[in-house]
Amino acid sequence: MSCQLRCALVLKLTMAVLLHDPHASILGGATCSVPCWRDSAAWVEHSDTLILKADNNTRGKERNAQARAKHFAHLCSGMECVFLRRADRSKLLNRVLRGIGYHGASAEIGVWQGAMSLAIMRANPSMGRHLSVDPWIGHMGGCDKLADRHCAMVRGKNGSLVRKANNTKFDGMHRNVVTSLSSYFPRRSLVVRNFSVEASRLIPDSSLDFIYIDGRHDLAGVSEDLASWWPKLCRGGLLGGHDWIGNGQAAQALRKWIKSQPFGTTGRPPRVYITAENPASYFTFREPCRW
Ligand SMILES: C[S@@+](CC[C@H](N)C(=O)[O-])C[C@H]1O[C@@H](n2cnc3c(N)ncnc32)[C@H](O)[C@@H]1O
Repeated sequence: MSCQLRCALVLKLTMAVLLHDPHASILGGATCSVPCWRDSAAWVEHSDTLILKADNNTRGKERNAQARAKHFAHLCSGMECVFLRRADRSKLLNRVLRGIGYHGASAEIGVWQGAMSLAIMRANPSMGRHLSVDPWIGHMGGCDKLADRHCAMVRGKNGSLVRKANNTKFDGMHRNVVTSLSSYFPRRSLVVRNFSVEASRLIPDSSLDFIYIDGRHDLAGVSEDLASWWPKLCRGGLLGGHDWIGNGQAAQALRKWIKSQPFGTTGRPPRVYITAENPASYFTFREPCRW
């Protein structure tokens, strides 16, 4: 039996046990953290203030947010891009995950050596389970002819996704990530060795307070990831992703996704925060429920 098949079976069994009670399972007993708000506009103000405060309180070199806004305006139609001046993704998360008071579960899609999963768990010690999803499968080329050494799959001439190289390196990387994350956070870390879309099917809707997407970087891949993981986000949850400024495809996918969604119960276009470093990350909140 191939490793991929074996891993998928083990994962399915684990998740079947874990998901017996879907909320107790991956969430380790925690549930979504943000309560319903009477006034959605007030929520937007509240979350916005937190982000801007985090940016203002970050020390370091200041970037020209206005110039960036002008340069990337074409990627922001239908939404409001807020270009941060100083905060990079880790500094933002350090302040915002705690500031909102999340105590539910989180996930990172596309983990590589685990640095960001570790940073997410460190950013808010009060949060529950953290899922790190990655297939850790080697490949020879790139996604859809895009030279991206991190892509797990390659589209062949007939359109099918194929080509896995010798996987020893990736088996080792997977083992190291499991060992390292669980040594720091034995109760929180849950490493899922699978492709993003497949892994998302095993997670209950509206169950994660924070999701960070950094797997495939091509338009189709990021679009698929947004469609698969957005429903998993709690109301009032935060979704982020890498490479908003990069090859431009993550930004295009995000814009398309936002346009396709019935956002706007707050009476204003959704806000997307772009971090100051390069390549930049993006962050956007799901509106909380209303009462
Ligand atoms: C840029 S690296 C992630 C870096 C990591 N987020 C960090 O900040 O340290 C991209 C990762 O995405 C993974 N990946 C590629 N295709 C994927 C897919 N379909 N589902 C999940 N992960 C995928 C790759 O195996 C690789 O480890």
